[in-house]
Amino acid sequence: MRLEAMEKTEQNSRSKKAGVRKLKLTNFRCYAMANMDLDPEAPVVLFGANGAGKTNVLEAISFLAPGKGLRHARFADVARHSSFMDEKITSMPLKWAVWAEVKTAGDMGDITIGTGCEPNALGETGTRRAVLINGESSSQNELAEVFSAVWVTPAMDRLFGGELAPRRRFLDRLVQAYDPAHTGRTNAYANAYKQWGKLLREGCRDTAWLASLENTMAEYGVAIAAARNDLLNRLGPYLHESWGGFPKADIALDGFLENKLLAMPALAVEDAFKEKLMASRFVYADGGTVAGAHNTDLVVHHENGMEAALCSTGQQKALLIAIVIAHARAMASEREDAAPLMLFDEAAAHLDKARREALFEILLSLKGQSWFTGTDSTAFASMDGKAQFFNIDNAEISSAVA
Ligand SMILES: Nc1ncnc2c1ncn2[C@@H]1O[C@H](COP(=O)(O)OP(=O)(O)OP(=O)(O)O)[C@@H](O)[C@H]1O
Ligand SMILES: [Mg+2]
Repeated sequence: MRLEAMEKTEQNSRSKKAGVRKLKLTNFRCYAMANMDLDPEAPVVLFGANGAGKTNVLEAISFLAPGKGLRHARFADVARHSSFMDEKITSMPLKWAVWAEVKTAGDMGDITIGTGCEPNALGETGTRRAVLINGESSSQNELAEVFSAVWVTPAMDRLFGGELAPRRRFLDRLVQAYDPAHTGRTNAYANAYKQWGKLLREGCRDTAWLASLENTMAEYGVAIAAARNDLLNRLGPYLHESWGGFPKADIALDGFLENKLLAMPALAVEDAFKEKLMASRFVYADGGTVAGAHNTDLVVHHENGMEAALCSTGQQKALLIAIVIAHARAMASEREDAAPLMLFDEAAAHLDKARREALFEILLSLKGQSWFTGTDSTAFASMDGKAQFFNIDNAEISSAVA
């Protein structure tokens, strides 16, 4: 981006920031109760010893967006574990909740988001989470319209070399922040794919039923692939620009639908996918796989030409951060009304001082509040006076100075 355009983006973004103003946790992981009052426009630094409760706070924030949060956890694990509870609480059902007052970047102003799990009829933690937006029962699709978050966590150190599913979730989270309707599409596709697979493996031969699920998968699959291709086009210019010592990156998608869409109109791709699904029924029923929106991969290369999976741990982390920042910058320049919150768990630890400071500087200019964790507050010294610092000690959160 040219300097002039960058300055314009940054001027616009200063007045239109999104962030959490109040956060309240109930029976969430190590927290029986916790409250935070925040400046929604300033970054947040959480520091404290190992096991103090820092990542748990970031995970709570990630639940304000659709999905299973930054640990992709089972909700039963999120509810405060009974062995940590005093007697009075142990006798209560396992119910966890995260509530926040959020300043949005757009015209909506402040909203409240509440989410959590009620116990099921057996008194166990439920497997679905309820969502309330401004006190009204809402869907995850509606949540996507008002809040998005992206994160970089230590578990993502193996994102490029590890299994495909977390990489695809990362990709879809970036798309969803840009295009909230993506949540509904991916859920509808996943439900149809799950049902289709189940029917085939149970030996179902009801071709009308299978064809109707294949139709749904084709319709949503093509829309998902188009949204992913669109995201890559938007990120490209930002990823090819160097800043603060972070590497430039090349990203591409390896997916049946995404590749076909580059060469054929959407309707022709839908037809091709329907045919492929129909032709794969027997193979799939026998335990085989079929290519579709569910197994698209994100392929990343470092500017030195190396595939991300073969880069050093530090280089991979820098690539991941470069992608997240390119995404936030693209959104800040194109979108007035939305900004993802950015959660960096232990991310500063892998970066040298110059890169760390470059990262803080660019984040201060973006539209979404950024959150950091670290065991030592001195790593964040350059944010002194610009960020709000909290010390966490054994699940007690207190406002602190750097
Ligand atoms: N469901 C739960 N109920 C009670 N405690 C839990 C639950 N899940 C996790 N914990 C505990 O919460 C504590 C804080 O975890 P967290 O991951 O937030 O620590 P942290 O401050 O990020 O530490 P580190 O610096 O090692 O990453 C841990 O001791 C963990 O065992
Ligand atoms: Mg942690």
